[in-house]
Amino acid sequence: MKAVVFHEFGSSDKLKLVIVKTPEIRQNEILVRVKACGINRLDLLLRNGAIPDIPLPHICGSEVAGVVEKVGSRVSSPKVGERIAIAPWIFCSECEQCKKGQETTCPNGDILGRYSNGGYAEFVKAPAVNAVKIPAKLDFKDAAAVTLSTLTAWRMLNTRAKLKKNETVLVHAGGSGVGSSAIQIAKYLGAKVIATASTEEKRKNASKLGADIVIDSKVDGLSSRVMKETNGKGVDVVFEHVGKDTWQESMKSLKKDGRIVTCGGTTGYEVNLDIGDVIYNEFTVLGSRGGTRPELKHVLDLVVKKKIKTVIDKEFPLEKAAEAQERMENRKQFGKILLTV
Ligand SMILES: NC(=O)c1ccc[n+]([C@@H]2O[C@H](COP(=O)([O-])OP(=O)(O)OC[C@H]3O[C@@H](n4cnc5c(N)ncnc54)[C@H](OP(=O)(O)O)[C@@H]3O)[C@@H](O)[C@H]2O)c1
Ligand SMILES: [Zn+2]
Repeated sequence: MKAVVFHEFGSSDKLKLVIVKTPEIRQNEILVRVKACGINRLDLLLRNGAIPDIPLPHICGSEVAGVVEKVGSRVSSPKVGERIAIAPWIFCSECEQCKKGQETTCPNGDILGRYSNGGYAEFVKAPAVNAVKIPAKLDFKDAAAVTLSTLTAWRMLNTRAKLKKNETVLVHAGGSGVGSSAIQIAKYLGAKVIATASTEEKRKNASKLGADIVIDSKVDGLSSRVMKETNGKGVDVVFEHVGKDTWQESMKSLKKDGRIVTCGGTTGYEVNLDIGDVIYNEFTVLGSRGGTRPELKHVLDLVVKKKIKTVIDKEFPLEKAAEAQERMENRKQFGKILLTV
């Protein structure tokens, strides 16, 4: 099969379109013919060598929609020919976390395309239990676009932060994959949204998605702007994923007993945390990881019902994967960049 592979860590020129062996499936796995695959920050981290113990050569791609090509001998569902999205969190089904429905924190788990090969290819294999049927009204691109970013934003705001009607949320980088979903999800949940973005064009797009107030993310002292917009109170929830560069301003933007929920550290994972702040203000710091299969089904349903829409920035054919990654690296995108296969 054709696949985009890197044999060593480095810049995007390490990505090569080559012919590799089509994956062989085990009895509980499926082989999926990839139709669309989203680009995620994780792909850049992997290719840059930020996760140095991954096996090389490697195929990225955690956000896959496609058609079931082949099923293992013990698989009764899905069937060959079905249109599916692959729920990106691979889990063991047997541990304590899995048994209580917390598959995102399975200690034996991983995300598709990190230690396993992903969807920058004609075919990818996955456990059959990770297949989630794509509703008839959705195409492969829409399904791939929400499979990780929207799912993550949904879990962060709905499941973890329990964002409520009339609360206010600060969404960092409204033009990011997760941020463009978060703006819409927060509006759907009835909250007021303050979003940030680095360019005028992205700020306009964030407003179009429903953000009530949009602030230039490059301003000094973002929290003072947030305080001004919230009558000196701060926001109920901060939607974090930028990490090191924004963390302190995020904490300063919170109102008393506010919640900060994070899924990432694009600019670095090590942040300063004054526990005095957390104690005296009774802040809650929440981590969030992807989402579960029921959450993915729910998110796909929200898209079908037009409660939220997919935000597709640009599509690239598989052979232009390097160009697609560069677009993300250069912060040119608003929403999801997709590879079509
Ligand atoms: N835990 C999980 O399950 C999970 C799932 C998905 C993603 N993530 C993480 O979430 C993060 C976002 O992922 P994504 O795929 O949505 O990436 P993305 O589309 O590339 O978004 C990254 C955003 O970061 C913003 N940014 C970069 N440097 C910044 C800075 N110094 N100050 C403010 N904003 C800055 C950019 O803002 P502008 O657009 O304004 O330039 C860009 O939109 C990544 O760290 C990823 O690993 C985690
Ligand atoms: Zn498990």
